[in-house]
Amino acid sequence: MSVDFGLRDRVAFVTGGASGIGRAIAVGIAEQGGAVGLFDRPGAAFEEAAAAVSAVGGQAIALEGDVTDKGSLDAAIARLEDAFGPATLAVNAAGIANAAPAEEMSLDQWSTLYEIDVTGVFLSCQAEAQSMLSGGRTGSIVNIASMSGTIVNRGLTQAHYNSAKAAVVHLSRSLAVEWAERGIRVNSLSPGYTATPMNTRPEMVDRMRMFAEQVPMQRIAEPHEMAGPAVFLLSDAASYITGIDLLADGGHCAW
Ligand SMILES: NC(=O)c1ccc[n+]([C@@H]2O[C@H](COP(=O)([O-])OP(=O)(O)OC[C@H]3O[C@@H](n4cnc5c(N)ncnc54)[C@H](O)[C@@H]3O)[C@@H](O)[C@H]2O)c1
Repeated sequence: MSVDFGLRDRVAFVTGGASGIGRAIAVGIAEQGGAVGLFDRPGAAFEEAAAAVSAVGGQAIALEGDVTDKGSLDAAIARLEDAFGPATLAVNAAGIANAAPAEEMSLDQWSTLYEIDVTGVFLSCQAEAQSMLSGGRTGSIVNIASMSGTIVNRGLTQAHYNSAKAAVVHLSRSLAVEWAERGIRVNSLSPGYTATPMNTRPEMVDRMRMFAEQVPMQRIAEPHEMAGPAVFLLSDAASYITGIDLLADGGHCAW
């Protein structure tokens, strides 16, 4: 058997696919031959993302919805199947980030982040697995967590985000074990600091140079550097890998 990193004739559902890491992974999937459904909120940059996929010779459709709304996830997965065939790959990259000192954080700020970053990932996995299992298909799901699920970022007061990302790592392990015998692999990919729109938020802009100095590689990541690790976990080259958290952090957590 030869090692196969390719995704030819595979169909992938990517949440948060219109921006940043989700978009870069969608492009990476297309480069390896997969067709992509770009799931994101109404008003997201669908056209730019679809154009980026087309530019590498791939096919994509825009799927509007919200990861906190199971009905919109189910409808989008059905639309993707009508367009390209049933999805056997999924990447859950939709997420938000913000900050506030823990002693001042409102319940609303806490709950909104958990609703999107934790419940949204669970609902996405549930919708994806229901589709795969009901069709008798095997599959691979990659949830985008963060190194913030392992470390606490110096100078950033984001107890809700850090704990939510730790939850995504352990949620992924739990689902991996539940679905292992039925052929669905579930892993998380934990990026380090990455140059995406998320990091233009006010509390981040001045800190990015300082953050780069905290990384052994002395730089933050470009979004496309998350595509390789995600494609690996999605591909048959990772056929015996489930329940892991793959850190792509320039060595940050080793320091
Ligand atoms: N940028 C980083 O440094 C970094 C580091 C580690 C982990 N991450 C994680 O990577 C993922 C992608 O982040 P990014 O940096 O590409 O940010 P981004 O803001 O560029 O992309 C996030 C996307 O998620 C979408 N989204 C947000 N809420 C949604 C919802 N309720 N329903 C559907 N879509 C929704 C947004 O519209 C956006 O297109 C996030 O889970 C983030 O926590 C980012």
